Amino acid sequence: MNNTTKPTLDTAFKKDVFEGLTQFPKYLYSKYFYDEKGDKLFQDIMNMPEYYLTDCEFDILSLHTEAIAEFFRGSGHGFDLIELGAGDGKKTKILLKYLGENDFNFVYRPIDISQNAIDSLTKTLSNELPKVDVRGEKGEYFEVLERVQEYNTRKKVIMVLGSNIGNLLHKRAIEFLAKLKDSMREGDLLFMGFDQKKDPETILNAYNDPHGITATFNKNILHRINRELDGNFPVDDFRHWESYNPESGTAKSFLVAEKPMEVTIAALNLTVKFDAWETIHTEISQKYDDQVVEWLAGEAGLDIETSYTDPKGYYKNYVFKRINA
Ligand code: AVI
Repeated sequence: MNNTTKPTLDTAFKKDVFEGLTQFPKYLYSKYFYDEKGDKLFQDIMNMPEYYLTDCEFDILSLHTEAIAEFFRGSGHGFDLIELGAGDGKKTKILLKYLGENDFNFVYRPIDISQNAIDSLTKTLSNELPKVDVRGEKGEYFEVLERVQEYNTRKKVIMVLGSNIGNLLHKRAIEFLAKLKDSMREGDLLFMGFDQKKDPETILNAYNDPHGITATFNKNILHRINRELDGNFPVDDFRHWESYNPESGTAKSFLVAEKPMEVTIAALNLTVKFDAWETIHTEISQKYDDQVVEWLAGEAGLDIETSYTDPKGYYKNYVFKRINA
């Protein structure tokens, strides 16, 4: 490639798409699923019966609301409840309602990569729970962690629901937990959901649903490249494929080219060749057990204080503190 044709990779999206599609095997980052359409599709996923994660976490928050709220309050001088990856707040509302109705001294600070998600959450909460003080922030997890450092005027409870950590490989999950730990001081808490290992069939059904919603969600990344980077992916010639390895606990999503093709992405000055059945790896959704969570936490400098589970034991929310803080 000479200088005259060298693309300007002036956004993270362009850079990541260029890098992912010029590697072997090809990959794209799942964080790019979430444009306006992707947010909507993810909400549809969360409403599917096969995607048990949402219902399980909803059950945990409903069954243990008081215990969780008391843990957050601790000795009680007020706290900031900072939620990373807030989404539509459906589950969080259970806690917020309880905290609001029982006059807990707290501010709710949702943080999400999607401005749409923040805007609609803030609007819904101001209608449904007007007593709750909401101050939303748009950003990516790691970028926002810098800002989290500023939230140090009083106790912080950092909350990450939805097993969002599962979209990171263990190495990056440890880095993520360690950065969270660095932003925590004595008495601060981290409250995080981890989807647990279970019948592999249940997991595959959650990511390979019969309605085709997960397939549409996965393929949305190709539509997004077509739209935003002037690409010409023949999206219907790709198949959504899910795998789950019960030994490692890793669910992986792929887009598989059903025929040989050449795709051009004009904004990247890039032509990408696909052989028939060549893959693009798009997402991992890691499943956990107590040993793995303990190991991740220990590597990151965190201790498990307690955990809450749903009646089926499919999912767990753990409370962490800094070691030696
Ligand atoms: C956001 N994240 C935790 C979801 C998951 O389960 O990995 C995203 C998702 N992908 C397919 N279905 C849902």
